[in-house]
Amino acid sequence: MSNNNINLIIRGGKVVSPSSTIEADVAISDEKIVAVVSPGVLPKAEREIDAAGHYVLPGAIDSHVHFREPGYAYKEDWGTGTAAAACGGTTSVFEMPNTNPPTGTLEALKLKQDCAAAQAYVDYGIYGLLDEDNIDVLEDLIGAGVSGFKCFMGNTFGDLPAPSDGAMLEGFEILARHGYRCTVHAENPSIMARRQERMVQAGRTDPLAHLAARPEVCAVEAVGRAVAFAEWTGARLHIAHKSSKDALYILKDAKARGVDVTVETCPHYLLMSTDDMTTLGGALRVNPPVREPGHAEALWEALHEGTIDMIATDHAPHQPDEKSSKNIWECDCGFPGVETQMPIMLTQVNAGRMTLNQYVKWSAHAPAHAWGCYPNKGVIQAGSDADIVVVSLDKGYIIDRENLHSKSKMTVWHGFETTATVAWTLVRGRTVVENSVLIGESGWGKKIEQKMPEPAPQNIEKSMDAIVKAPRF
Ligand code: DOR
Ligand code: ZN
Repeated sequence: MSNNNINLIIRGGKVVSPSSTIEADVAISDEKIVAVVSPGVLPKAEREIDAAGHYVLPGAIDSHVHFREPGYAYKEDWGTGTAAAACGGTTSVFEMPNTNPPTGTLEALKLKQDCAAAQAYVDYGIYGLLDEDNIDVLEDLIGAGVSGFKCFMGNTFGDLPAPSDGAMLEGFEILARHGYRCTVHAENPSIMARRQERMVQAGRTDPLAHLAARPEVCAVEAVGRAVAFAEWTGARLHIAHKSSKDALYILKDAKARGVDVTVETCPHYLLMSTDDMTTLGGALRVNPPVREPGHAEALWEALHEGTIDMIATDHAPHQPDEKSSKNIWECDCGFPGVETQMPIMLTQVNAGRMTLNQYVKWSAHAPAHAWGCYPNKGVIQAGSDADIVVVSLDKGYIIDRENLHSKSKMTVWHGFETTATVAWTLVRGRTVVENSVLIGESGWGKKIEQKMPEPAPQNIEKSMDAIVKAPRF
């Protein structure tokens, strides 16, 4: 093979996909992978990465991050959030709309697009908000380039009110016509508000009061409702941060019926429990809460049998004074996660909880499919974007909050001992992280190109659009 156009070769590593691990050299020309070939076949290129003893993975694709800008840039901005992603081996992120202003209008979307374009180190998609008042704007948001939508069925940071069921159904009807996917924060708000209010009145301020306010039934009800609306309308659905075992049967059944629903869970739900809540307190306050021991095992099982499709982080940075009150209700919910996901989960690979191939499936392959960017992303093969991570599985480190690139140092993983390290991260052929050091250029990241499958709307003749436009008498 001639190396005329090859600028970079990753040589000597083991290339991983969901179905294979092969010794191969990867040739890159500009932004694309041009060849994945047997070791030693390629002539020397002008730049080479020596990946001997390392594994070569598709960069992780995180369906769920909060980068806070515009509005809360003191917690995070697009530069720091995407730098953290790159250092953690994540090359694509989908960013949530609970910023200020929330991403539910064209003006707000433009503000966010400008922040992202100017600062991003990795590629990104931006979620539009689906709420009570913007149903008429959803199509404009699609036209202006959102990647998908987020519907906050339950309250969380930003306190965006949940839309009524009527608005949500109508919104799903519109998204179904366009084949777009809606991510839902599936917790029932009225149950949670009532329980929290009663506990505040009763003087409960302890960390576990947060869990008590948001029992699993909140998720069971909301997941069931979201699935009902998705199935009725044909809208694609994504369940954010699955935390408990309880609603899994609904999702398993829905998938078996052919509902296009994808499901994510996060490292904290797989690896932490209320025992950690007792020691970490407000730092671990998150929505939904980490559950009692036993749920994590069920989530692992659901990943293995396919009810849960992928790993995301819900990267949710806040500042120390916002997370440190003794009164749990005064602590902001969430913590950073995008930089620690891959080393922590690869440590689970080393511990035998999944294979490296499964990790690639759940961190890259499945989200690329869900968001319509496969095979541009999520795979190492000729023709794909060169979004590549080179990792060591025999060199670990102790996670130190001070070393995080996020503005939030409030990680619940401080002191966690990994057995794996992200050494290099490439985003569309550019080296963004080299020998675990950020060397990339802010502004290199660009909007992810997506092509969702054909829309498959259902019950169109009973949709709001049909009933108001076409009276039958
Ligand atoms: O704990 C959380 N924090 N859960 C969410 O769903 C949102 C997030 C945030 O934006 O801070
Ligand atoms: Zn979130």
